[in-house]
Amino acid sequence: MINPVYSPSPTRYESGIRYRRCGRSGVLLPEIALGFWHNFGDVNPFANSLEMAHYAFDHGIVHFDLANNYGPSYGSAEETFGQMMKKSFAPFRDEMFISSKAGHDMWPGPYGEWGSRKYLMASLDQSLKRMNLDYVDLFYSHRFDPETPLEETLQALVDIVRAGKALYIGISKYPPEAAAFSYRYLRERDVPCLIYQGRYNILNREPEEQGILDQAKENGAGFIAFSPLAQGLLTNRYLEGIPADSRMAKEHFLKSSVLTPEMHRTLEQLNGIAARRGQTLAEMALAWCLKDDKVTSVIVGASRVSQLEDDFKALENISFTAEELEEINRITNKA
Ligand SMILES: NC(=O)c1ccc[n+]([C@@H]2O[C@H](COP(=O)([O-])OP(=O)(O)OC[C@H]3O[C@@H](n4cnc5c(N)ncnc54)[C@H](OP(=O)(O)O)[C@@H]3O)[C@@H](O)[C@H]2O)c1
Repeated sequence: MINPVYSPSPTRYESGIRYRRCGRSGVLLPEIALGFWHNFGDVNPFANSLEMAHYAFDHGIVHFDLANNYGPSYGSAEETFGQMMKKSFAPFRDEMFISSKAGHDMWPGPYGEWGSRKYLMASLDQSLKRMNLDYVDLFYSHRFDPETPLEETLQALVDIVRAGKALYIGISKYPPEAAAFSYRYLRERDVPCLIYQGRYNILNREPEEQGILDQAKENGAGFIAFSPLAQGLLTNRYLEGIPADSRMAKEHFLKSSVLTPEMHRTLEQLNGIAARRGQTLAEMALAWCLKDDKVTSVIVGASRVSQLEDDFKALENISFTAEELEEINRITNKA
């Protein structure tokens, strides 16, 4: 059988997507990025993963977010992406912004996780091979390592950029003090931190509460929100129970114990506000993150194209009245 050649939509940049400048940098990022944490592993049908990636690219969602251990199995989301590069995206490499990360457990033994130079360098080399790439656009330290001297981690990131294996670097889930040190260290070496990646959504406001959003802005870095839908809680997925094909049904990263009667009530009330705005809960949840210009982009996950279609519609209305915001705060005890 002849493989059909992928030809992306010629109107991909007029589909409604918008791009925001990432901190004080030359990089523009789409307001929505596609994350490969779930549903792109070797346990998932490649055809569905490919369909989602095509949908994204066809709508100007040119930023794909990966990490060494996304799967399962570890490494397999990057391999999936590597196949996509070969099959579809190689001619469009320069239109794409690809990120990967290292920091969490990846291989056994003392050099397979955290923040040593030994681990970061080896991990990125492996990632590039799996992804069929010569370089990534963005490489992250995936988590702060309290035991490795931060200078070692950051210098490895600087050297990775100098070696041409990544164009930019970022940090993820760093506590504010470590982030402050990182911004300074990297700036002094002329490899400024491009972006901070943190969990941020209507239910989890830590980046606001800990000053991470303001700190990134003050340091000329962008902020990209992961799990903006709280892994699917902030969608219509769990309004009527727990679907068998949902992330929560797997009881791994999203446990059913979070779906207390109180949480259920909260989700229903939020869904009511979304309905009044003419949006689904997912659309409103993404819009809520994007209302703040300190947020450069949100990284969504998806298990099917119809979810991405819905998520994309969020861009049609990202403004809120003061009353709506107050009501959301009251419902989520953030008043
Ligand atoms: N830096 C870090 O440490 C870190 C940590 C976590 C994530 N991330 C990044 O952030 C990305 C997104 O994380 P996430 O997957 O937790 O994000 P999320 O967008 O909060 O949740 C995605 C899940 O929500 C459901 N969903 C999405 N759109 C929907 C819609 N319109 N209607 C109904 N359900 C919908 C799907 O669940 P079902 O699968 O159940 O259908 C989907 O898998 C990851 O892929 C990764 O790139 C980074």
